[in-house]
Amino acid sequence: MARTTSADDQLFELRLARSAPDLFPMLEALYGARPDYPVFRDKLVKALRKGWGDRPEDLKRLDLQRDLEPDWFQRPGMAGYVFYIDRFNGTLEGVLDRLDYLEDLGITYVHLMPCLKPRPGDSDGGYSVMDYRQINPAFGTMAEFEAVSAALRTRGMSLCVDLVLNHTAKEHAWAKKAAKGDATYQDYYLMFDTPDMPRLYEQTLVEVFPDNAPGNFTHYPEIGKWVWTTFNEHQWDLNWANPAVFLEIVEVMLFLANKGVDVLRLDAVAFMWKRLGTRCQSEPEVHMILQALRACSRIASAAVIHLEEAIVSPSEMLPYLGRGKHDGKEGNLAYHNSLMVQFWSALATRDTRLMTHVLATHFPDRLTNATYANYIRCHDDIGWAVTDEDAAAVGLSGHSHRNFLSDFYEGTFPGTFAKGALFQVNELTGDKRISGSFASLAGIAQDPELAVQRILMGHALIAAWGGIPLIYMGDELALPNDEGYLANPDHAHDSRWIHRPRMDWALADARHQGDTPAARVFRGTKAILARRAATPALHAAVPVRVVAAGNDAVLAFQRLAPTGTLLGLFNFTEHWQHLPEAVVRSLGVSAFHDELSDAHVEAHHGQIALPPYARVWLT
Ligand code: GLC
Ligand code: GLC
Repeated sequence: MARTTSADDQLFELRLARSAPDLFPMLEALYGARPDYPVFRDKLVKALRKGWGDRPEDLKRLDLQRDLEPDWFQRPGMAGYVFYIDRFNGTLEGVLDRLDYLEDLGITYVHLMPCLKPRPGDSDGGYSVMDYRQINPAFGTMAEFEAVSAALRTRGMSLCVDLVLNHTAKEHAWAKKAAKGDATYQDYYLMFDTPDMPRLYEQTLVEVFPDNAPGNFTHYPEIGKWVWTTFNEHQWDLNWANPAVFLEIVEVMLFLANKGVDVLRLDAVAFMWKRLGTRCQSEPEVHMILQALRACSRIASAAVIHLEEAIVSPSEMLPYLGRGKHDGKEGNLAYHNSLMVQFWSALATRDTRLMTHVLATHFPDRLTNATYANYIRCHDDIGWAVTDEDAAAVGLSGHSHRNFLSDFYEGTFPGTFAKGALFQVNELTGDKRISGSFASLAGIAQDPELAVQRILMGHALIAAWGGIPLIYMGDELALPNDEGYLANPDHAHDSRWIHRPRMDWALADARHQGDTPAARVFRGTKAILARRAATPALHAAVPVRVVAAGNDAVLAFQRLAPTGTLLGLFNFTEHWQHLPEAVVRSLGVSAFHDELSDAHVEAHHGQIALPPYARVWLT
């Protein structure tokens, strides 16, 4: 009997045809030489068709809506909030109870930190996943997850979840079969019979967790294998050179998409492809895989976008947003790690020259179909990703400056305002990273008034830069460091837990009363997000250009909107600063209206005065 093609099937064929040129050339380059390639290709198309077939009607409508409004995630109304479910409010049901709070803050994008079923015990904060199709039972059920996703959608909020691509927990079903000797599943991972190859690879690999998980391989005498474990011992790296892995992950992606996920945060993507003699980070194949994955989402779940997590140097990071032949086809979002690092660097030195140099030299003024995820703090440590070349360009020694930043934010540098904790000191390279909450690193213990201003300056900065600002849970209330992790044996070895506190709901509930630092930071952040939403020049597609304002204490950048320039000015010091009115005018400002405070700015004696830690969005 002839099969009739429904309108739905036709739509799938159209979507497949649209994205086929983005997908198949990548797959051919990656896997085309293998004899099983044609079989893999057929299976993949089948999986995509099934994903589409399973997609609920309301999500298909959302696909259509976002095809019609492809800039939906670039609009100034977007504002993200990032949290661990248990630390925020216990469970998924608890999250539902607190959506009013998020709406009050102005949030339209919610990142639920790892929520899929992790291994028992230490799971690297949930990044060691043993089942991609189940919700962490400590948080609730898949039905509850879907209820959260539906509730968010009703409120016009997008849902972001983590998808760990580089590794699974060693307790994942694939890993367990591999450990039992099943050759099919051993090929899902990178397993070696002898230490010879691992030794060769180690010659050029770097260490992610030198302190508590040294080396990139683990020897399991009981399995008789050396297994690639870039991160922790329990996180086994997947073998992306095996198309079966690609297929499995696409099925997982579509499964999550069909549960109502809008943004897939693809974790630790830089590490996905291994090549002997390299650092095995950001190899060209990584970008082919990521372009192919995005094409798969566009075919079977077009409403879904990808956030790529690659915390690397500027030149290495940009390709994750699609450069060169991947232009417009790779990550829709990637973390702007440099903006974050440079914020902290300029805050410590009270000097924006390095920041201006890095942002002006390495970052294009616009991207195609993509934008940045902008943040000041997240759940991870801060690595001082400042290259020797960039430091030298402004007369600094890279090594000394990175050391200075670690000491400053650890709290040992004389005169520092910050209090943080060291993370993963690498004795070999001298590399030191820093953990700590926004408030503690901004000096809340030493001078709460200045800390409040520093936090609001940071939030105003990420709200004005092109992209989506991400507020990390607690930073809207100036929550300080939480030393409690030291008493938890699963966490004590990992200082990142110092900035993963439990939400303080008493503080949150008092946010509209009084003048505590928490209440002021909440109301200030809320005002920033509201003003952002009302300022069309902050649309992510509007070019960003960093400029010199003639005062090293002030970061200045233009948003070159068709309706006129917006000039962002940020005073990185606790002192008043002045800018000549003529300079400000020459940067495209004529009305002297501050969109952030929604007030007129007056020049006195030809000078614009900026109070300590001022943030101004001048038009
Ligand atoms: C990412 C996560 C980090 C985790 C690592 C390994 O970098 O942000 O928390 O430790 O991946 O999954
Ligand atoms: C990621 C980042 C690294 C971070 C680590 C763990 O791999 O690249 O900077 O420290 O995860 O947090």
